[in-house]
Amino acid sequence: WPRSTSAHPDGLRIAGIPVGELAARFGTPAYILDEDEVRRRCRAYRAALPGFEIAYAGKSLTCRAVLRWMAEEGFSLDVCSGGELAVARAVGFPAERIILHGNVKTAEDWKAALGYEIGRVVVDSLDEIDQLGSLARHPQRVLVRVTPGVDGHTHKAIATGVEDQKFGFPLRDAMTAVDAVLAQPGLRLDGLHCHIGSQVSSVASFELAARRMVEFAGAIRDRHGVVVRSLDLGGGHAVPYLPGQQEFDLTGYAQRVRVAVSYTASQLGLPVPQLTIEPGRALVANAGVTLYRVVTVKGRYVAVDGGMSDNMRACLYDAKYLVRLAGRSSSAPLRTVSVVGRHCEAGDVIAADIELPSDVHAGDVLAVPVTGAYHHSLASNYNQICRPPIIGVRDGWARPLVRRETEEDLLARDVG
Ligand code: LLP
Repeated sequence: WPRSTSAHPDGLRIAGIPVGELAARFGTPAYILDEDEVRRRCRAYRAALPGFEIAYAGKSLTCRAVLRWMAEEGFSLDVCSGGELAVARAVGFPAERIILHGNVKTAEDWKAALGYEIGRVVVDSLDEIDQLGSLARHPQRVLVRVTPGVDGHTHKAIATGVEDQKFGFPLRDAMTAVDAVLAQPGLRLDGLHCHIGSQVSSVASFELAARRMVEFAGAIRDRHGVVVRSLDLGGGHAVPYLPGQQEFDLTGYAQRVRVAVSYTASQLGLPVPQLTIEPGRALVANAGVTLYRVVTVKGRYVAVDGGMSDNMRACLYDAKYLVRLAGRSSSAPLRTVSVVGRHCEAGDVIAADIELPSDVHAGDVLAVPVTGAYHHSLASNYNQICRPPIIGVRDGWARPLVRRETEEDLLARDVG
């Protein structure tokens, strides 16, 4: 697509391109993804966390282009299914930099992981340790996932550090998992893994988890004489969704986690482990904007051509979003409206009780920022609605990264 040269009469541009032009060219709804913003965030992580291995959490947004960018930025990759791994393979993502985790790994997932000879597997149950131990042809490096009993103070659907839940081994059982890994000749214990939750802003929670993990590494050394080489502290760094919300304190995180790990390790006479983190949302959320077109305005309801099929977060977590009139400017006074979707549910609300200019009408383009993470990846075909495209933008250029789904795509799978 050619470089944008148009001078649209609105103030809102993404990567230098007027939003109205993007909506006209690519249709709506559409996810717009700003490549420079993703790379800028990757570089900010790299600069703030020298010496850390940074593994992009592919579940937040996986498509070929994004995984290519991550590979180019020197990142590792955290996948949680054979499907995510297939995209990684499709772009030749270096296998040794891939980490597979998840509480369920099917026979297909194992086949994909072992077939591609990925670097590390995070084991999540005793059954898995047996399965992987008998399947692995070469010694497979594994991390044992531990739930360190740390509350990340986030929405309960995305809190994964508290002990009673489906992920990992609570500290009281984790040694049994370590015993089982060490008893399998096909497995090599590389390290420990934890992920305390997502959209976590408390650096103190990460610090506490890191300390507990090192202490557990000390217990492993005492019992087995084995030194754990690496600690993967998961992702979950919060991002601001609304104006006025705080950015995650990345510098504080880097400092406090590093000190907690080295201090605890030195107290226990352990070498400092290699540290890995797995941010997803923090790298892509703020680089994404969803564009919708207003289809009708009825009283205080502004209804658009997308909804819960492209934004599940509002329904699932009661997540709050900013909505802006984007295709033109308006000096009309603001009024309180709810922006609702097209799906057959009263709960299909993108943003309740927000302010928009009172002259918003059918045909207007609305932009919803901070939709780069867990939007495309959580999208569904509810009501047989086709999923939106991802349009990559960079410095005045725009091109589809993932094309819009069509009714033919939907029918192609329906073979009955
Ligand atoms: N590592 C592990 C093991 C994870 O389970 C997750 C996210 C991450 C890393 C990346 O977390 P992040 O840095 O992106 O917060 N759908 C929810 C989020 C679910 C997160 C699941 N695990 C949402 O939209 O808020």
